[in-house]
Amino acid sequence: MPTPPLIPSVLILVPLLFFSFCTEPVIAWRPWPNQTLNKTDFIFGGSKKYEGSSEFVQLKYHMGPVLTANITVYPIWYGSWQKSQKRIIREFISSISSVDAKPPSVAGWWKTVQQYTDQTGANISRYVHIGTEKNDRFFSHGKSLTRLSVQSVIKSAVTSSTRPLPINPKSGVYLLLTSEDVYVQNFCNNVCGFHYFTFPSIVGYTLPYAWVGNSAKLCPGVCAYPFAAPAYIPQLKAVKSPNGDIGVDGMISVIAHEIAELSTNPLVNAWYAGQDPVFPVEIADLCEGIYGTGGGGSYTGQMFNGEDGATYNMNGIRRRFLVQWVWNHLVNYCTGPNALDQ
Ligand SMILES: *[C@@H]1O[C@H](CO)[C@@H](O)[C@H](O)[C@H]1NC(C)=O
Ligand SMILES: *[C@@H]1O[C@H](CO)[C@@H](O)[C@H](O)[C@H]1NC(C)=O
Ligand SMILES: *[C@@H]1O[C@H](CO)[C@@H](O)[C@H](O)[C@H]1NC(C)=O
Ligand SMILES: *[C@@H]1O[C@H](CO)[C@@H](O)[C@H](O)[C@H]1NC(C)=O
Repeated sequence: MPTPPLIPSVLILVPLLFFSFCTEPVIAWRPWPNQTLNKTDFIFGGSKKYEGSSEFVQLKYHMGPVLTANITVYPIWYGSWQKSQKRIIREFISSISSVDAKPPSVAGWWKTVQQYTDQTGANISRYVHIGTEKNDRFFSHGKSLTRLSVQSVIKSAVTSSTRPLPINPKSGVYLLLTSEDVYVQNFCNNVCGFHYFTFPSIVGYTLPYAWVGNSAKLCPGVCAYPFAAPAYIPQLKAVKSPNGDIGVDGMISVIAHEIAELSTNPLVNAWYAGQDPVFPVEIADLCEGIYGTGGGGSYTGQMFNGEDGATYNMNGIRRRFLVQWVWNHLVNYCTGPNALDQ
């Protein structure tokens, strides 16, 4: 066989580059389906036995790696963060592996994520630890970030001359958290957070990362729902948040969503549904807006009311949180630790 001419390999390269740069907004998320709601939806929403259940969901494993070794989350605090806000987020992440919280617990929620395996049958890690943290207090890349400049922020964090974050492509999760005065491309339209991996051409390594923004100033009714209600849906009433910070309490469920998806689909070639790898539907996308039994459509499902009047659905160490459910591929429906039939 003759040596192939140079041109075909260039032709192969071009679509690859096109794929990585033009289709980068792969994973988008907002807390409920974008639909017009009415009261009937709320009344009849609770009648379903299994939340989000469907024979039509074809979640498949596409043979790529998942995070099976102890997971380390490296928070990058971009912009101005209060100590109390950092504490809520750190305690949520630490709660994922905690054995101390009483059920229904965040650790119980993570058990559904642990059900996913790779080709060798190894499960997603039971442990999620907090690693080194990085502060980017003075907005190194400005107050308006694009999907590509997000990668530059991560590059700065791993190449910083003072205490850079470790390079951990196998089990690191680089979690960029932007404060309420920072805009990120598409934030609020239909995106509250996303995950992807960094490009070697920008960062020098392929590192799985996620971004989650504090929506308190820009769009709490979109990204911190149900702790704030969107003005255009008058039937929806906001509920009291469990840790007294609407923006941060709203971020918790988005952080959970992204860590669950990132662990099961870190390079976007492992667990997802849908025909199109450019728009994968992942394990948390399938349960968007579902927090309890009966959830679906526009109804959140059954949640708890604390003695302080706050709404939550699971316990962490020292605190309560409201976290969306994730898809359980063994039973083919969304599950969570507060399910009434468990
Ligand atoms: C979602 O709803 C918002 C608010 O009504 C609207 O501005 C936006 O265009 C909608 N997006 C889609 C994809 O329908
Ligand atoms: C409200 O929703 C129900 C069920 O989704 C539907 O049958 C009904 O026509 C809707 N009502 C209005 C006023 O849109
Ligand atoms: C993983 O984390 C657990 C719990 O912290 C620890 O006991 C174990 O030694 C860790 N394993 C490795 C390989 O670091
Ligand atoms: C590992 O995954 C398998 C297959 O989904 C599941 O049956 C098993 O319970 C999981 N193990 C743990 C410790 O979660």
